[in-house]
Formats: sequence, structure tokens, C-alpha cells
Amino acid sequence: MKPLIIAMTGATGAIYGIRLLQVLREKSMEVHLVMSAWAEKTISLETNYAIEEVRKLAKKCYAVDDLSAPISSGSFPTEGMVIIPCSMKTLAGIAHGISENLILRAADVMLKERRKLILVPRESPLSLIHLRNMTLAAEAGAVLLPPMAAFYFKPQSIADLIDHLVGKVLDLLGVEHHLFPRWGE
Ligand SMILES: Cc1cc2nc3c(=O)[nH]c(=O)nc-3n(C[C@H](O)[C@H](O)[C@H](O)COP(=O)(O)O)c2cc1C
Repeated sequence: MKPLIIAMTGATGAIYGIRLLQVLREKSMEVHLVMSAWAEKTISLETNYAIEEVRKLAKKCYAVDDLSAPISSGSFPTEGMVIIPCSMKTLAGIAHGISENLILRAADVMLKERRKLILVPRESPLSLIHLRNMTLAAEAGAVLLPPMAAFYFKPQSIADLIDHLVGKVLDLLGVEHHLFPRWGE
């Protein structure tokens, strides 16, 4: 597999991004990470992880304002990109092609190069603006995977629910996993 871009933004649910990074590291995948300023803030507010610890889960980590990073260009080969969690602000930027930071630019590159762009948008309730931006992103080729809990596998803990979401991301990436039991298993 080519390198994978993971971006984290300032929506609640930083732990989803951290868990995905942990699993990708266990699988020795080459991850290039970008965190927005508000992602770093939510990591501090919501988890016990230090930002440096999270950064170390990736092979490379870029500053969100570094528009000269390799992942800013379509000529840099990547498997795709996951934005987890994805704020409504970042969703809006993607939907309207406003590539003002590295997360938005890399997402724009995924869409123009027809590569995988998986968004884990988090907000509730959703305004018409949020819904329209999701539609625009989906029409442009992004996959919208909101963190919606499933109960068919009788989760015993929050960790089970987090792993279910992370497993759904891995399914879309075509990465094998056993993070949750499948229906019928
Ligand atoms: C603790 C916390 C939780 C937040 N949760 C959400 C959320 O679930 N969804 C959202 O769209 N914004 C949420 N926000 C607001 C975003 O952080 C804010 O809109 C920010 O500008 C997003 O910028 P970014 O996309 O560059 O990270 C939250 C902010 C804080 C401090």
C-alpha cells in the first residue's frame, strides 16, 4: 500500500483518530499525519494522550499551515486520506474547495486525483448547511462515514464502539481487521 494521509480536526471524538493511528501502526502502514490546532486542543481536553505521543504514531507529521509539504501535491503518491474526526468547518472548506490549510489542500488533491477521501464528520444536530456540504463532498467523490454507533454486536464498552467505527474505516480502505464481529459471524 502507498502512504496513507490521516488528518484530525477539532470535532469531538479525538479518540477515534488516535485509535485509527494505533491500529495502522500495528499493521506497519506508512501514515502521514496532519492535525489542526483545534484537533490538538480537543486531544488535550478529551483524552490523556500527549500531542507528542499522538504524533509518534505516524511515520511523518506535518504542520497544518505547511502548504509546501509533499501531501500538498497530487504528484506525491498516496493511497488516500481519512479525516477523523472531521469538523463542520473542515467539511465546509472541502465542499467549497477552500484549500487554505494542509488538511483542506490534501483533501482537495484526493478529490481531483480521484483517490479515496473518507470523512468522519461529527456534529449533532445537523443544520441544512452541514447536510448540503456533506452532499457536495459526496458528489465530488468523498465517502461520508459519520460516527454512528451500532449495537447488533452487543458492544460491552465504549472501546468496542470506537473499534467498530475504526473497523468501518479500515473496511473502506481495504485493510483486513478483526476489530468487531461481522453480522452472521
Ligand atoms: C471540545 C470541543 C468540541 C467540539 N466539537 C465539535 C464537533 O463535534 N463538531 C464540529 O463541527 N465542531 C466542533 N468543535 C468546534 C471546532 O473545533 C471549530 O469549529 C474549529 O474551528 C474547527 O477547526 P478545524 O476544522 O480546523 O479543526 C468543537 C470544539 C471544541 C473545543
